[in-house]
Amino acid sequence: MTTTSVVPKAVPLSVALREGTRGEHETAERSGFVELLMSGALDRSAYADLAAQQLAVYTALEAAGSRLADDGGLVFDQLVRVPAIEQDLAFLFGGDWRARVRVLPATQAYVRRLEEVGGSLPLYAAHAYTRYLGDLSGGQIIKRMLQRYYGFESAGLAFYDFPQIHKLKPFKDVYRERLDALELDAEAREAVVEEARDAFRLNAAVFGELGAVHVR
Ligand code: HEM
Repeated sequence: MTTTSVVPKAVPLSVALREGTRGEHETAERSGFVELLMSGALDRSAYADLAAQQLAVYTALEAAGSRLADDGGLVFDQLVRVPAIEQDLAFLFGGDWRARVRVLPATQAYVRRLEEVGGSLPLYAAHAYTRYLGDLSGGQIIKRMLQRYYGFESAGLAFYDFPQIHKLKPFKDVYRERLDALELDAEAREAVVEEARDAFRLNAAVFGELGAVHVR
């Protein structure tokens, strides 16, 4: 007698990531710093400080990306953020911005984690998903709120612009397809989702410290 086991088709990784980080996304979105920044209750220096943290994070993320043998096609030139953040920081802090930005302890911890996982494509994917898909999604809302409440036009907000990506939606679809094509067994997939949860928590910790500085 032959037995056939019916293995349910695994949920695509992109769906597992979205579902698996839903709670962490809500927590990050609802952090005091983010809510107040988004409602116009803080000032430009709060956003400038956030941009400074983003430089440290994307420098580490993009260094990890460029070190990878990217056989998953997940590292895209169009996504690179470091030059845009540097441009924003020059606008926000002035020409001597390098001497004026400071990296918070929670950001340093985030950077250390990115350095640790850098060599692993699946774990890199968890971090890249968390940041880049967020920037291409909620980031676009954040940009509009920063324009509305803090009087920015485009200078200072280059971080949120992806001039080499013609339409964001189809690009995000391709990104999700690449995630879904990674060959991972069940255990490795769970590790990717868990790493993405951690990535959200690392972001939330940065917001917590920014809140301690800027929320009075
Ligand atoms: C004010 C704060 C935020 C708002 C308003 C916001 C809003 C959104 C919205 C509306 C989407 C869905 C867009 C779509 O269906 O394409 C989205 C997706 C996403 N956001 Fe956020 N977000 C915020 C903060 C964050 C933060 C802090 C992170 C992580 C650091 C993040 C990461 C993501 C990711 C990874 C996705 C893609 C989900 C998926 O489809 O797999 N977001 N966000």
